[in-house]
Amino acid sequence: MLIREFLEKRYSAREYEQKQLSESTIKTIVDYAHEIEASIKSVKVKFIFLKDGAEIFEKLNGYAGYAGVMIKSPHYIGILTEDENYRTQIAASYAMQSLIKKLFEMGLGTCWIDFSKAGERLQDELAGSELKNINYAVSVGYPKKESRFKFVYVPSTSYSSVSNNPYRQISESKSDKSGERLPIDQFVFKDEFGKHISLDELEQRGLADVFSRVRNAPSARNLQPWRFVLQNERIIIAVKNPSSKESMTDAGIMMYLFEGMVHDSGIRGEWSLLPFEEFEYQNDKYAYVGEFRV
Ligand SMILES: Cc1cc2nc3c(=O)[nH]c(=O)nc-3n(C[C@H](O)[C@H](O)[C@H](O)COP(=O)(O)O)c2cc1C
Repeated sequence: MLIREFLEKRYSAREYEQKQLSESTIKTIVDYAHEIEASIKSVKVKFIFLKDGAEIFEKLNGYAGYAGVMIKSPHYIGILTEDENYRTQIAASYAMQSLIKKLFEMGLGTCWIDFSKAGERLQDELAGSELKNINYAVSVGYPKKESRFKFVYVPSTSYSSVSNNPYRQISESKSDKSGERLPIDQFVFKDEFGKHISLDELEQRGLADVFSRVRNAPSARNLQPWRFVLQNERIIIAVKNPSSKESMTDAGIMMYLFEGMVHDSGIRGEWSLLPFEEFEYQNDKYAYVGEFRV
Protein backbone atom coordinates (compact mmCIF):
# COMPACT_ATOMS: atom_id res chain seq x y z
CA MET A 1 0.00 0.00 0.00
CA LEU A 2 1.27 3.43 -0.87
CA ILE A 3 1.89 5.79 2.03
CA ARG A 4 -0.55 8.20 0.36
CA GLU A 5 -3.41 5.75 0.79
CA PHE A 6 -2.31 4.80 4.29
CA LEU A 7 -2.31 8.48 5.30
CA GLU A 8 -5.76 9.00 3.86
CA LYS A 9 -7.27 6.08 5.71
CA ARG A 10 -5.32 5.75 8.93
CA TYR A 11 -6.70 6.78 12.30
CA SER A 12 -6.10 5.90 15.94
CA ALA A 13 -8.38 3.00 16.86
CA ARG A 14 -9.37 3.10 20.52
CA GLU A 15 -12.08 0.42 20.56
CA TYR A 16 -11.48 -3.17 19.59
CA GLU A 17 -13.35 -6.40 19.16
CA GLN A 18 -12.07 -8.54 22.03
CA LYS A 19 -11.13 -11.21 19.51
CA GLN A 20 -7.61 -12.63 19.64
CA LEU A 21 -5.45 -12.63 16.54
CA SER A 22 -4.72 -16.09 15.15
CA GLU A 23 -1.32 -17.67 15.78
CA SER A 24 -0.44 -17.32 12.10
CA THR A 25 -1.37 -13.62 12.10
CA ILE A 26 0.78 -13.09 15.19
CA LYS A 27 3.64 -14.93 13.49
CA THR A 28 3.37 -12.71 10.41
CA ILE A 29 3.56 -9.64 12.66
CA VAL A 30 6.48 -10.92 14.72
CA ASP A 31 8.42 -11.94 11.59
CA TYR A 32 7.88 -8.54 10.03
CA ALA A 33 8.89 -6.84 13.28
CA HIS A 34 12.19 -8.79 13.19
CA GLU A 35 12.80 -7.59 9.64
CA ILE A 36 12.34 -3.99 10.74
CA GLU A 37 14.66 -4.46 13.75
CA ALA A 38 17.35 -5.83 11.46
CA SER A 39 16.97 -2.96 9.01
CA ILE A 40 17.62 -0.27 11.66
CA LYS A 41 21.39 -0.12 11.72
CA SER A 42 22.09 3.08 13.65
CA VAL A 43 20.71 2.05 17.05
CA LYS A 44 19.32 -1.04 18.71
CA VAL A 45 15.53 -1.25 18.90
CA LYS A 46 13.35 -4.27 19.61
CA PHE A 47 9.66 -4.93 19.52
CA ILE A 48 7.93 -6.88 22.24
CA PHE A 49 4.63 -8.58 21.40
CA LEU A 50 2.45 -8.59 24.51
CA LYS A 51 0.03 -11.35 23.71
CA ASP A 52 -2.17 -11.44 26.78
CA GLY A 53 -3.90 -8.09 26.32
CA ALA A 54 -6.34 -8.62 29.19
CA GLU A 55 -3.52 -9.13 31.68
CA ILE A 56 -1.58 -6.13 30.36
CA PHE A 57 -4.69 -3.99 30.56
CA GLU A 58 -5.20 -4.98 34.22
CA LYS A 59 -1.58 -4.18 35.04
CA LEU A 60 -1.43 -0.86 33.25
CA ASN A 61 -4.84 0.71 33.61
CA GLY A 62 -4.11 3.86 35.58
CA TYR A 63 -0.43 3.81 34.52
CA ALA A 64 -0.32 3.95 30.72
CA GLY A 65 -2.11 6.15 28.21
CA TYR A 66 -3.19 9.77 28.54
CA ALA A 67 -3.72 10.51 32.25
CA GLY A 68 -3.51 6.77 32.91
CA VAL A 69 -6.43 5.92 30.65
CA MET A 70 -5.31 2.66 29.09
CA ILE A 71 -6.75 1.51 25.79
CA LYS A 72 -8.31 -1.96 25.94
CA SER A 73 -7.18 -4.22 23.13
CA PRO A 74 -6.54 -7.93 22.64
CA HIS A 75 -2.77 -7.41 22.26
CA TYR A 76 -0.11 -4.73 22.54
CA ILE A 77 3.25 -4.23 20.85
CA GLY A 78 5.91 -2.28 22.73
CA ILE A 79 9.11 -0.81 21.40
CA LEU A 80 12.24 -1.32 23.51
CA THR A 81 15.39 0.77 23.32
CA GLU A 82 18.79 0.78 25.00
CA ASP A 83 18.74 4.49 25.90
CA GLU A 84 16.65 7.61 25.51
CA ASN A 85 18.93 9.59 23.24
CA TYR A 86 17.02 11.65 20.66
CA ARG A 87 18.50 9.55 17.85
CA THR A 88 17.25 6.40 19.51
CA GLN A 89 13.77 7.83 20.00
CA ILE A 90 13.57 8.87 16.38
CA ALA A 91 14.75 5.45 15.17
CA ALA A 92 12.30 3.70 17.50
CA SER A 93 9.25 5.63 16.36
CA TYR A 94 10.32 5.37 12.70
CA ALA A 95 10.45 1.60 13.20
CA MET A 96 7.13 1.46 15.03
CA GLN A 97 5.35 3.54 12.41
CA SER A 98 6.58 1.20 9.67
CA LEU A 99 5.18 -1.74 11.65
CA ILE A 100 1.90 0.17 12.09
CA LYS A 101 1.61 0.54 8.33
CA LYS A 102 2.00 -3.22 7.93
CA LEU A 103 -0.66 -3.82 10.61
CA PHE A 104 -3.01 -1.46 8.80
CA GLU A 105 -2.46 -3.37 5.55
CA MET A 106 -3.46 -6.52 7.45
CA GLY A 107 -6.79 -4.91 8.37
CA LEU A 108 -5.78 -4.27 11.97
CA GLY A 109 -6.33 -1.16 14.03
CA THR A 110 -3.66 0.45 16.20
CA CYS A 111 -3.23 3.36 18.57
CA TRP A 112 0.02 4.66 19.99
CA ILE A 113 -0.01 4.53 23.80
CA ASP A 114 2.22 6.33 26.27
CA PHE A 115 4.02 3.58 28.22
CA SER A 116 6.58 5.84 29.89
CA LYS A 117 5.29 4.95 33.37
CA ALA A 118 4.57 1.33 32.47
CA GLY A 119 8.10 -0.08 32.56
CA GLU A 120 8.17 -0.85 36.28
CA ARG A 121 4.93 -2.75 36.09
CA LEU A 122 6.15 -4.79 33.13
CA GLN A 123 9.17 -6.31 34.86
CA ASP A 124 7.98 -9.88 34.26
CA GLU A 125 7.39 -9.23 30.56
CA LEU A 126 10.76 -7.49 30.15
CA ALA A 127 12.71 -10.00 32.23
CA GLY A 128 14.16 -11.93 29.29
CA SER A 129 14.96 -8.90 27.21
CA GLU A 130 18.38 -7.28 26.86
CA LEU A 131 16.72 -3.88 26.23
CA LYS A 132 14.72 -2.51 29.14
CA ASN A 133 13.53 0.96 28.12
CA ILE A 134 9.94 1.15 27.06
CA ASN A 135 8.27 4.48 26.38
CA TYR A 136 5.62 3.63 23.84
CA ALA A 137 3.51 0.74 22.68
CA VAL A 138 0.60 0.34 20.31
CA SER A 139 -2.68 -1.41 20.89
CA VAL A 140 -3.48 -3.91 18.17
CA GLY A 141 -6.57 -5.82 17.16
CA TYR A 142 -9.64 -5.75 14.96
CA PRO A 143 -11.12 -2.28 15.41
CA LYS A 144 -14.78 -1.90 16.24
CA LYS A 145 -16.56 -0.48 13.21
CA GLU A 146 -17.90 2.53 15.10
CA SER A 147 -14.39 3.50 16.18
CA ARG A 148 -13.60 4.29 12.58
CA PHE A 149 -13.80 7.92 11.50
CA LYS A 150 -13.71 8.81 7.88
CA PHE A 151 -11.28 11.35 6.48
CA VAL A 152 -12.27 13.55 3.62
CA TYR A 153 -9.46 15.06 1.65
CA VAL A 154 -9.58 17.88 -0.84
CA PRO A 155 -7.09 17.10 -3.60
CA SER A 156 -4.21 19.51 -3.68
CA THR A 157 -5.22 21.07 -7.00
CA SER A 158 -8.62 22.13 -5.73
CA TYR A 159 -7.49 24.56 -3.07
CA SER A 160 -5.16 26.76 -5.06
CA SER A 161 -8.08 28.92 -6.21
CA VAL A 162 -9.20 29.84 -2.70
CA SER A 163 -8.54 33.56 -2.71
CA ASN A 164 -7.02 35.10 0.41
CA ASN A 165 -5.91 32.00 2.27
CA PRO A 166 -4.97 29.14 -0.01
CA TYR A 167 -4.48 26.87 2.96
CA ARG A 168 -7.85 27.43 4.53
CA GLN A 169 -9.68 24.85 2.58
CA ILE A 170 -7.17 22.17 3.41
CA SER A 171 -7.38 22.83 7.10
CA GLU A 172 -11.15 22.66 6.99
CA SER A 173 -11.30 19.64 4.75
CA LYS A 174 -10.96 16.99 7.43
CA SER A 175 -14.33 16.02 8.75
CA ASP A 176 -12.86 13.47 11.10
CA LYS A 177 -13.20 13.41 14.84
CA SER A 178 -9.61 12.47 15.41
CA GLY A 179 -8.29 15.97 15.81
CA GLU A 180 -7.77 19.04 13.70
CA ARG A 181 -4.54 19.59 11.86
CA LEU A 182 -2.41 22.68 11.38
CA PRO A 183 -2.73 24.48 8.04
CA ILE A 184 0.33 23.86 5.89
CA ASP A 185 1.64 27.40 6.12
CA GLN A 186 1.95 27.07 9.87
CA PHE A 187 4.38 24.21 9.71
CA VAL A 188 6.18 24.57 6.36
CA PHE A 189 8.52 27.50 5.78
CA LYS A 190 10.81 28.73 3.02
CA ASP A 191 14.57 29.28 3.44
CA GLU A 192 14.40 30.12 7.13
CA PHE A 193 12.27 29.22 10.11
CA GLY A 194 9.01 31.20 10.18
CA LYS A 195 9.29 32.60 6.65
CA HIS A 196 6.14 32.15 4.56
CA ILE A 197 6.06 29.79 1.59
CA SER A 198 3.53 30.11 -1.22
CA LEU A 199 1.34 27.28 -2.32
CA ASP A 200 2.56 27.82 -5.90
CA GLU A 201 6.09 27.14 -4.83
CA LEU A 202 5.09 24.00 -2.98
CA GLU A 203 3.25 22.82 -6.07
CA GLN A 204 6.18 23.59 -8.35
CA ARG A 205 8.41 21.52 -6.12
CA GLY A 206 5.88 18.69 -6.17
CA LEU A 207 5.45 19.00 -2.41
CA ALA A 208 1.96 20.47 -1.94
CA ASP A 209 0.33 17.07 -1.96
CA VAL A 210 3.07 15.61 0.23
CA PHE A 211 2.49 18.17 2.97
CA SER A 212 -1.29 18.14 2.67
CA ARG A 213 -1.18 14.42 3.44
CA VAL A 214 1.63 14.07 5.96
CA ARG A 215 -0.33 16.45 8.17
CA ASN A 216 -2.45 13.44 8.94
CA ALA A 217 0.43 11.80 10.80
CA PRO A 218 -0.44 10.80 14.35
CA SER A 219 1.25 12.79 17.10
CA ALA A 220 1.17 12.63 20.88
CA ARG A 221 -1.83 14.61 22.15
CA ASN A 222 -2.21 15.70 18.53
CA LEU A 223 0.31 18.45 19.21
CA GLN A 224 1.85 18.23 15.71
CA PRO A 225 5.25 19.54 16.83
CA TRP A 226 6.90 19.08 13.40
CA ARG A 227 8.04 22.06 11.31
CA PHE A 228 9.76 22.01 7.91
CA VAL A 229 12.09 24.50 6.27
CA LEU A 230 12.51 24.15 2.52
CA GLN A 231 15.83 25.27 1.17
CA ASN A 232 17.28 24.66 -2.29
CA GLU A 233 17.95 20.99 -2.38
CA ARG A 234 17.27 20.20 1.25
CA ILE A 235 14.24 19.95 3.46
CA ILE A 236 14.91 20.34 7.15
CA ILE A 237 12.66 19.03 9.86
CA ALA A 238 12.48 20.75 13.25
CA VAL A 239 10.37 19.96 16.29
CA LYS A 240 8.81 22.09 18.98
CA ASN A 241 9.71 21.25 22.60
CA PRO A 242 12.63 19.12 21.49
CA SER A 243 13.57 18.00 24.99
CA SER A 244 10.35 16.01 25.32
CA LYS A 245 10.25 12.34 24.40
CA GLU A 246 6.93 12.93 22.74
CA SER A 247 8.33 15.45 20.27
CA MET A 248 11.22 13.24 19.21
CA THR A 249 8.86 10.31 18.86
CA ASP A 250 6.55 12.42 16.71
CA ALA A 251 9.57 13.47 14.63
CA GLY A 252 10.48 9.85 13.84
CA ILE A 253 6.90 9.07 12.84
CA MET A 254 6.82 12.09 10.56
CA MET A 255 10.20 11.24 9.04
CA TYR A 256 8.96 7.78 8.12
CA LEU A 257 5.73 9.09 6.59
CA PHE A 258 7.32 12.06 4.81
CA GLU A 259 10.02 9.87 3.27
CA GLY A 260 7.40 7.38 2.09
CA MET A 261 5.19 10.10 0.61
CA VAL A 262 8.13 11.68 -1.20
CA HIS A 263 9.31 8.34 -2.58
CA ASP A 264 5.76 7.50 -3.71
CA SER A 265 5.75 10.83 -5.57
CA GLY A 266 8.84 9.74 -7.49
CA ILE A 267 11.28 12.01 -5.65
CA ARG A 268 14.44 10.36 -4.35
CA GLY A 269 16.27 11.25 -1.19
CA GLU A 270 16.85 10.21 2.36
CA TRP A 271 17.03 11.61 5.86
CA SER A 272 20.16 12.25 7.82
CA LEU A 273 20.01 13.35 11.44
CA LEU A 274 21.39 16.72 12.52
CA PRO A 275 23.28 17.46 15.73
CA PHE A 276 20.91 18.48 18.50
CA GLU A 277 20.83 22.26 18.74
CA GLU A 278 17.99 24.15 20.36
CA PHE A 279 16.74 27.59 19.31
CA GLU A 280 13.88 29.85 20.26
CA TYR A 281 11.17 31.17 18.00
CA GLN A 282 8.33 33.33 19.35
CA ASN A 283 9.04 32.18 22.91
CA ASP A 284 8.91 28.48 22.07
CA LYS A 285 11.85 26.10 21.95
CA TYR A 286 12.65 24.17 18.79
CA ALA A 287 15.49 22.07 17.40
CA TYR A 288 16.38 20.98 13.89
CA VAL A 289 16.55 17.22 13.89
CA GLY A 290 17.05 16.01 10.35
CA GLU A 291 17.61 17.00 6.75
CA PHE A 292 16.26 15.36 3.65
CA ARG A 293 18.34 15.96 0.55
CA VAL A 294 16.49 15.76 -2.74
C1 LIG B 1 3.77 9.20 20.44
C2 LIG B 1 2.27 9.12 20.56
C3 LIG B 1 1.68 8.81 21.76
C4 LIG B 1 0.30 8.71 21.86
N1 LIG B 1 -0.26 8.34 23.05
C5 LIG B 1 -1.59 8.15 23.12
C6 LIG B 1 -2.18 7.69 24.33
O1 LIG B 1 -1.48 7.44 25.33
N2 LIG B 1 -3.53 7.52 24.37
C7 LIG B 1 -4.32 7.78 23.28
O2 LIG B 1 -5.54 7.61 23.37
N3 LIG B 1 -3.79 8.21 22.10
C8 LIG B 1 -2.46 8.39 21.99
N4 LIG B 1 -1.91 8.81 20.80
C9 LIG B 1 -2.75 9.04 19.63
C10 LIG B 1 -2.92 10.54 19.32
O3 LIG B 1 -3.76 11.13 20.30
C11 LIG B 1 -3.47 10.72 17.92
O4 LIG B 1 -2.50 10.30 17.00
C12 LIG B 1 -3.85 12.15 17.61
O5 LIG B 1 -4.84 12.60 18.49
C13 LIG B 1 -4.37 12.30 16.17
O6 LIG B 1 -5.47 11.44 15.92
P1 LIG B 1 -5.40 10.32 14.78
O7 LIG B 1 -4.21 9.44 15.08
O8 LIG B 1 -6.70 9.56 14.88
O9 LIG B 1 -5.25 11.00 13.46
C14 LIG B 1 -0.53 8.95 20.71
C15 LIG B 1 0.09 9.25 19.49
C16 LIG B 1 1.46 9.33 19.41
C17 LIG B 1 2.08 9.62 18.09
